[in-house]
Amino acid sequence: MVNQVSLSPDGPLVSDVIYGTWRLLADEPRPTVADLASRFELCLELGITTLDTAEIYGRYTVEAAIGEVFRARPDLRDRFTLVTKCGIDVPSEEKATARLPHYNASADNLVACAEKSLRLLQVDCIDVLLVHRPDWLCRADDTAAGLNRLIAEGKIRHAGVSNYTWHQYELLSACVDRPLVTNQIEASLLRMDALYDGTLAQCEQRGVRPMAWSPLAGGRLFDPQNEAAVRVRRCLDGLRDKYDGAADDALAFAWVMAHPSRPVTIIGTNQPDRIRSQARASQIRLDRQDWYALWEAAQGHSVP
Ligand SMILES: NC(=O)c1ccc[n+]([C@@H]2O[C@H](COP(=O)([O-])OP(=O)(O)OC[C@H]3O[C@@H](n4cnc5c(N)ncnc54)[C@H](OP(=O)(O)O)[C@@H]3O)[C@@H](O)[C@H]2O)c1
Repeated sequence: MVNQVSLSPDGPLVSDVIYGTWRLLADEPRPTVADLASRFELCLELGITTLDTAEIYGRYTVEAAIGEVFRARPDLRDRFTLVTKCGIDVPSEEKATARLPHYNASADNLVACAEKSLRLLQVDCIDVLLVHRPDWLCRADDTAAGLNRLIAEGKIRHAGVSNYTWHQYELLSACVDRPLVTNQIEASLLRMDALYDGTLAQCEQRGVRPMAWSPLAGGRLFDPQNEAAVRVRRCLDGLRDKYDGAADDALAFAWVMAHPSRPVTIIGTNQPDRIRSQARASQIRLDRQDWYALWEAAQGHSVP
């Protein structure tokens, strides 16, 4: 079973492997409400009790699809901690004034987006709202005012950010009434920036678990043309027996989760067998030298 953990000292309880919905509607034919409900049930059976979504996913269609599942199956809603994100505007029917893709983390926009998410998701309260991307034109106190208002009005329980540098996180933290509960960032064997740029160190210092998106590098880890991926997979294959037959994907998730900031990871597959496999990562503790062997395989050289 997937572990339940506290996201931050005053944060919500989440599963340390989360189900992500970026690609939820990507398959053809489009999954029905019943298909999605059975996928969510599988998650719950495995102990995956947290769903990650965003206003923009499926070009503003995924939140409504999740809402349809909750309408048909109200019993499912209460069993999930629901995370959504807002603040990315791309030209579309929903964003009539957007002439080009841009970020908008102003208070008024965050409040309007969160209120729309509540309607589409068909819920009374969002457990965790994340500012999807830092908006370089928005003052931190403006973004914070939106998050503070949403919490005060009971529309969201917790606030956090995504893709923030640690400086941006500190700046916003100084303005919010309640501590931010996470920074959702890209992290995988093929994307290690957060190890080096202070993002994970800051999470560790604050006792805030990062949420790692694209833990399989968006599938690039399985690309036979990608030399780093081929080296990593050779190394992963050699570890399988030692970790009780865990597949490459589970071990790659476990590599991300081993960092002392204790990242939680977000699953992106739509395939039930892969969901099962990746959920196993919650129970895997990689040996120090196996972790470094994978680092070495990814980088193509040993540690300096
Ligand atoms: N905050 C942000 O800015 C941000 C950005 C991106 C994503 N996210 C979140 O993170 C979640 C996960 O991201 P992601 O979808 O990029 O995760 P990922 O696990 O890195 O990539 C998923 C892709 O890898 C493929 N895949 C998964 N397991 C595989 C396996 N065992 N063998 C071969 N291919 C495999 C999947 O294809 P199949 O479906 O065919 O298995 C899918 O195309 C998203 O759903 C979203 O919730 C957040």
